[in-house]
Amino acid sequence: MNTVRIIRMDAVQSPAHSRMMMRCEAMDRLARNRPQRALRTGRFIVMRSLLCAFVIQAAGPARADDKAATIGATIAVQGASRDRPACAACHGVDGAGQPDVGIPRLAGLHASYIADQLGYFASGKRRNPIMSPYAEALTPDQRRAVADYFAGLPIPAPVDAVSAPPAQLERGRALFQRGDAQTKLIACTQCHGPNGVGVGSFTPRLAGQSGPYIADQLHRWRDGDPRDPRGSYMQAIAARLSSDDIEALAAYAASLDPKPGGSQRSADR
Ligand code: HEC
Ligand code: HEC
Repeated sequence: MNTVRIIRMDAVQSPAHSRMMMRCEAMDRLARNRPQRALRTGRFIVMRSLLCAFVIQAAGPARADDKAATIGATIAVQGASRDRPACAACHGVDGAGQPDVGIPRLAGLHASYIADQLGYFASGKRRNPIMSPYAEALTPDQRRAVADYFAGLPIPAPVDAVSAPPAQLERGRALFQRGDAQTKLIACTQCHGPNGVGVGSFTPRLAGQSGPYIADQLHRWRDGDPRDPRGSYMQAIAARLSSDDIEALAAYAASLDPKPGGSQRSADR
């Protein structure tokens, strides 16, 4: 898992690679700042995938036994096949996602959680018209490799400050930290950990996750869609939430520091 970081850092060592890396990251930023435009432009996605793939390819695999890490990095940054853009085209080279358009961050999630979700998308147990085709195109080994890649990335700082009215954040904080005795809502922290950083492969990190993405998942559970076989926990939780509370919880969770303490890595097992 460390290998991936080594690959990326090797790429920075030579000036040519370093320039490519910077341009790859600049395209990433552009995609994030102007998501609608970038996402709709096939040429942009392809350009960026090629450029960023070069960064990884130029660095080359560090050792022969790093094959799985190389496969994961290639799928993430170059794409699994020619007709599929890379995961990074939507989730970012740094795995930070595109919070404002509801594309979740993957860096900071546990490798097993990511691999499980990819398996659910691939088998149709979890459905999303944008995401499902990418998971379907991968073998179980490829899903594991790309999950390890994203889980091994350092957790990026939030891209934008969450702009929500103080009263909404306060309502979100109260529900998140304490739950609600009246509606018998359990505090989110009971399962997602004290700072919403997630608990191993059981619950995903919510801290710093895209607010619109969190709200969307909660609405879906509340509407009765189990999302995937483990979704029954969240269906029971979401059933107790009003739409205002969903917005408040999403804003609060998005505003939480994704790595309290500074050095946490999702790949720790
Ligand atoms: C065209 C854009 C796009 C591409 C390319 C893409 N994704 Fe996604 N991904 C999404 C969207 C949108 C969602 C949210 C789906 C939902 O709401 O259920 C998502 C969700 C996910 C999730 C669920 C995260 C969670 O917290 O539950 C994982 C894991 C994931 N993607 C991994 C990948 C991997 C690995 C690849 C490359 C093989 C990839 N994605 C390629 C758009 C994309
Ligand atoms: C009883 C345990 C439990 C409690 C309490 C709980 N969750 Fe969850 N949550 C889970 C589990 C398990 C999953 C993974 C579900 C899956 O794989 O479909 C999850 C997943 C999620 C996700 C999906 C994240 C992603 O990356 O896709 C969101 C959003 C979420 N929970 C929000 C909340 C909020 C907000 C609260 C508090 C109101 C809360 N949860 C309370 C168990 C819990």
